[in-house]
Amino acid sequence: MKTVHINASKSYDILIGDGIIANSGEFILQACPNVKKCAVITDDIVDALYGESFVGILQNAGFTVIKYVFPNGEKSKSMQTLTSILNFLGENEITRSDAIVALGGGVVGDTAGFAASVFLRGICFIQVPTTLLAMVDSSVGGKTAVNLNSGKNLAGAFWQPNLVICDCNMLKTLKASTFSDGCAEIIKYGMIADKKLFEFICKNPISENAEYVIEKCVSIKADIVMNDERDTGIRQLLNFGHTIGHAIEKCSNYDIPHGSAVAAGMMIISKGAYECGICKKDFSPDIEKALNKYSLPIGCDFSAQELFDVTLSDKKRSGQFTTLVIPDEIGNCILKKVESEKIFDIIQKGLN
Ligand code: GLY
Repeated sequence: MKTVHINASKSYDILIGDGIIANSGEFILQACPNVKKCAVITDDIVDALYGESFVGILQNAGFTVIKYVFPNGEKSKSMQTLTSILNFLGENEITRSDAIVALGGGVVGDTAGFAASVFLRGICFIQVPTTLLAMVDSSVGGKTAVNLNSGKNLAGAFWQPNLVICDCNMLKTLKASTFSDGCAEIIKYGMIADKKLFEFICKNPISENAEYVIEKCVSIKADIVMNDERDTGIRQLLNFGHTIGHAIEKCSNYDIPHGSAVAAGMMIISKGAYECGICKKDFSPDIEKALNKYSLPIGCDFSAQELFDVTLSDKKRSGQFTTLVIPDEIGNCILKKVESEKIFDIIQKGLN
């Protein structure tokens, strides 16, 4: 088992290994010794695969366990689901010395984490990510949120987990396309911070090297979060491909999953930024090679106007200017403030 430690507003471990979910009870007891009751939050697909056994693992460790299940998918990442979870916690008399345990992918983690941040003004929160994307990115770093009608992740809170448990064996039950979505975020990590990782995953299948790759990504994220927990500076590098990616997700009414949208977003921003003269080299061929290896999209069917309209309402826009993440070389990206109006040109050139 590998351990990555984060020292932010909370200090916590990310545990990575094969089969470690079996020891979740002991890990939670060590990280949160006062917790008596665990509220497991999950979705219907994960529940069918792991719900019963996971509840048993926690009960065997002495916890009282309650479980809330909602429908799988991005459309569940809503204020309605949040309200239902909060009512469920209230009705089951969850107290400040209890914990929420998110068992699932990014939607489960983000929504359950937001609930943990506001219920009783904040309770213990454990992440047990079951998708590759959640293991390498969304379960770590304390960003929690739900979507609003006006855009993705527009209501949320920074609320660090007390522990993250990544069991690589759980990746074996993922659909191939869901696994690929996580690969998009891993390609992102290579592009923003680690050329060797980028080259490694271009040569070696992620599926055969999951523990190594997850530890690399989480270590990169840990360094970034410890330097900029509140996302006012370098943490924005983690948004490479995301500004346009979020617009693609929203335009598709969330039918295109996050990882696939980010994949296309990385291509569009890299090509468009180069064509517009704000990036010294066109890195889109390198990114395309990596995306092809993992069967990820390299573009989308939406027009520049459609994407631009959504991008303008994205939360990263600050008035007249938007901060974009632009590749400087493989393994290093930079933040560039551009006039929001300029994004139309970048998207249009990136789509061509
Ligand atoms: N997923 C981007 C971040 O955590 O900042």
